[in-house]
Amino acid sequence: MLKNYPPTKAKTWQKLQDHYKALQPVHLSEMFARDEQRFEKFSLQFEDILFDLSKNRVTKETLDLLVELAEEMDLPAAIESMFGGDKINATENRAVLHTALRSFSAEGLEVDGEDASGEVKDVQQQMKRFCDKLHSSDWKGYTGKSISKVVNIGIGGSHLGPQMVTEALKSYQKDGIEVYFISNVDGTDASEALKKLDPETTLFIIASKTFTTKETIANVETARDWFLKSAGDREHIKKHFVALSTNTKAVAEFGIAPENTFRFWDWVGGRFSLWSAIGLSIACAIGYDKFEELLRGAEAMDKHFRKTDLRKNIPVLMGMLSIWYTNFFGCQTHAILPYDQYLRLLPEFLQQLLMESNGKSASRDGSDVNYQTQPVIWGAAGTNSQHSFFQLIHQGTFLIPCDFLAPVNSNNPIGQHHTMLLSNFFAQTEALMKGKTAEEVRAELEAKGNLSQQEIEDLIPHKVFEGNRPTTSIMFHQLNPYTLGALLAMYEHKTFVQGVIWNIYSFDQWGVELGKQLAGKIEEELLDTGVKGNHDSSTNSLIAYYREHRKK
Ligand code: F6P
Repeated sequence: MLKNYPPTKAKTWQKLQDHYKALQPVHLSEMFARDEQRFEKFSLQFEDILFDLSKNRVTKETLDLLVELAEEMDLPAAIESMFGGDKINATENRAVLHTALRSFSAEGLEVDGEDASGEVKDVQQQMKRFCDKLHSSDWKGYTGKSISKVVNIGIGGSHLGPQMVTEALKSYQKDGIEVYFISNVDGTDASEALKKLDPETTLFIIASKTFTTKETIANVETARDWFLKSAGDREHIKKHFVALSTNTKAVAEFGIAPENTFRFWDWVGGRFSLWSAIGLSIACAIGYDKFEELLRGAEAMDKHFRKTDLRKNIPVLMGMLSIWYTNFFGCQTHAILPYDQYLRLLPEFLQQLLMESNGKSASRDGSDVNYQTQPVIWGAAGTNSQHSFFQLIHQGTFLIPCDFLAPVNSNNPIGQHHTMLLSNFFAQTEALMKGKTAEEVRAELEAKGNLSQQEIEDLIPHKVFEGNRPTTSIMFHQLNPYTLGALLAMYEHKTFVQGVIWNIYSFDQWGVELGKQLAGKIEEELLDTGVKGNHDSSTNSLIAYYREHRKK
């Protein structure tokens, strides 16, 4: 089990504070100038993925101290607890075993007296049979036509992972199947998707761990009405709707046949669930074999995380770097910048993974933490993001650590595009690290020869780049299912490492409940069922404004 111990009480915390004071004024370019071996010393290779940590504001001593803190906080024992199936999600009394979904070697893993690994394999076989039937066009719709469109209806963890991976692996997309996603309860989402679909050739995947999420149920009902308008007979539903859930009882009550129900278990957290039956839309898009490669990549990273010495352990170092910047530098945000258009949804996926997991202020014993926890995660694909928010990363007042990700080889090698893309990838991290001094700016402007000395002096403050902005570069040979699996597992474990150090529970999400409860009550008010709300003056007035202006 996870112990309850605030990191600020750890002896190493004070040492890190002192170390921070000494290191804070040191410029990264100075660190590079002092040590020609800096890259070799601060980069790590995992299979075909290179993690370059050298442009971070760390020395050997920093990493030694961060690892010492991790040891003092009992991280190795916490890792074993997770893999061993202890109920480390204590506030929900659940184990955390998404790793068991991609463990091809583990046998006989028992959770609550049930053989979890056997059940996992059974569902994987069921998914494979389903995909084979779909891809061989043996799965027919109600008029005998083959299925060519698959629509995942789900939200949060039942949407972001499948959508991001399906997008990321588009170059592995199976011919003849297109995958769509409906998630938002805003009717626009369903309407726009349904416009492109034909009920005779469309199959809906209802993805919901709990099968109680109101947004998902509303979208499923809309899809079912739309389908029945053409199909008529409810008997046809079984050819066009399947469900992925832990709540098999609610699925059955909804009318989905048991053979069309793909189950998973409460020891799989929603935002960690793309490896489970929730990944069915991914398997539909790329084929079950490729989905298995994704799982195998994740398994390889799991083994690395579990077995590698903390000092060389990639998710551990990535997690500890986040502690370094959040708790010692006071950084409030962290940017994710994929230089790969296929990974453009990665920032959104990581927002849920990291912020829903670690956006907490109660420590494990229930007391308030007196230090910062999860920073805001944001980002977008390069080079587009360079032309929107990079200005702030370069010259703004916040220090923003960034992860830059890029493939060595493009899945779409046309002309010089990839060379240009990677030139930007290299240039940005170099510029953020080095910056540009007043002397350099002056020399550059003087060389132009068209400005007076006064004009040059006036311009200098605007053109100076302080630099010293930390980045981690992650390069992989080519984006494929295996590599993506490893990368995503790395971020999952990084999330866990941070939560262990912050002494919080990373696997619950009580913070989303209050809004859900209030929305349920207000919905009844808006439906004019006679329920009267008693809100603050702002909420009352907003509801009144809506009533006054809504079209009857
Ligand atoms: O937003 C809260 C949440 O519970 C997420 O954690 C989860 O991924 C999402 O809702 C969807 O839940 P479900 O899969 O049960 O529909």
